[in-house]
Amino acid sequence: MLGGGECPDYWEWSGYTLEKLIITGGNRLTGKVSVSGAKNAAVAIIPAAILCEGVCTIDNLPYIDDVIVLKDILTQIGAKVDLTTDGKMVIDSSGINTYRANYDIVNRMRASYYLIGVLLGRFGKAEVPFPGGCDIGARPIDQHIKGFSALGADIFVEHGIIKASAKRLVGAEIYLDVVSVGATINIMLAAVKAEGNTTIVNAAKEPHVVDVANFLNCMGANVKGAGTDIIRIKGCQQLKGCSYTIIPDQIEAGTFMIAAAATMGDVTVCNVIPKHLESVSAKLVEMGVTVEEMDDCIRVKNNARPKKVNIKTLPYPGFPTDLQQPMSTLLSIAEGTSVITENVWEARYKHIEEIKKMGAKVKIEDRVAIIEGVPKLYGAPVTASDLRAGAALVIAGLMAHGKTEISNVKYIDRGYENIEQKLIKLGADIVRVKE
Ligand code: EPZ
Repeated sequence: MLGGGECPDYWEWSGYTLEKLIITGGNRLTGKVSVSGAKNAAVAIIPAAILCEGVCTIDNLPYIDDVIVLKDILTQIGAKVDLTTDGKMVIDSSGINTYRANYDIVNRMRASYYLIGVLLGRFGKAEVPFPGGCDIGARPIDQHIKGFSALGADIFVEHGIIKASAKRLVGAEIYLDVVSVGATINIMLAAVKAEGNTTIVNAAKEPHVVDVANFLNCMGANVKGAGTDIIRIKGCQQLKGCSYTIIPDQIEAGTFMIAAAATMGDVTVCNVIPKHLESVSAKLVEMGVTVEEMDDCIRVKNNARPKKVNIKTLPYPGFPTDLQQPMSTLLSIAEGTSVITENVWEARYKHIEEIKKMGAKVKIEDRVAIIEGVPKLYGAPVTASDLRAGAALVIAGLMAHGKTEISNVKYIDRGYENIEQKLIKLGADIVRVKE
């Protein structure tokens, strides 16, 4: 089976300064925070722009490492890319002249696998090294490969590089054996310019799948059914440039909602689509937290230790795996014993060893975490092992007594824009220092 890679240490060679966050816990978070654009939509929509040979303007992008890496990747293959710190990217891909992506850059992120779909779609050929990304368990891409093969591409792997080529891509019916966000999006990307009709059955329904389909349609593609488990694509010969605004990041929003509950706070999380957060709101309410939904804001208020709950992570609209780590951290101070079952990724409990250093009582049995709530966590030096583990440790630090020092902030920066600035505005005591 084709597998994914581990988080690389590219930051050292790229001159990235190692930093840590120091949090003095105990402050209630209060006030308003505005959520940035969705990372997991951005990392697909930016490469999708090269399917047309015109100019695309993408707005509401989060200014995070993954977006900056994508700018470098597109520039390296010949696109002209302009990115502003307020999240606007203009991509002119008329000058792209290669279907080969460079290992050194691609290895810096997981979602570089979307380059296979878009290069296949544009050139009928792609050579892309295996992706990097967070180490949260085996990360196979067999369903992506199955989809490309069904569309008529020959795929093989040589020296760690995935090589795909097709004389012509022809639409097909593709049944996904597992519900995969990445495979659903990648097959859409390759299929929009294929001859004839493609149907993806058992497709992922995440909001960012819908966002990518909307962007493709904005470029002139014909994608219907995104957001349901059957997506139908009518191939077209040419796409045109367009302007598009990315949806808000529901995982960042959920992280702030959990942080508000964890600090007995009162926070209004703005620029959100409340519907995307229903599973999170429902769990918080079950825990005794007050959640008030408005048009594009959610207010979260709490004044007591949360009640225990059980959670099973599932594809959307189930409880998102990407919020399991922040949520299990909040449950470490719940009244009673909570049980979490992580159904999506097999190794997504690395934050647990760290919060145990802070006084949490958790037993892991395979994919299940049994969390016996304690009244308080205590500050300690801890290390982020991946993006959401980092977010979980920030939440642990905010609710703990005393000082927490979080190393490996680089993982958090991959997915959260200005996290400490946003938290400071809400009243947190948090500083970033060089390691
Ligand atoms: C996306 O990863 C997200 N990443 C992840 O977000 C998120 O955790 C995940 O979806 C699930 O929601 C991006 O969008 C860039 P999958 P992806 O394919 O697409 C199995 C975060 O914290 N599978 O939906 O790589 C796989 O092993 C990150 O922001 C196969 O078996 O995930 C997993 O168990 C981390 N074969 C399940 O499916 C395949 O070919 C879901 O994976 C593909 C996946």
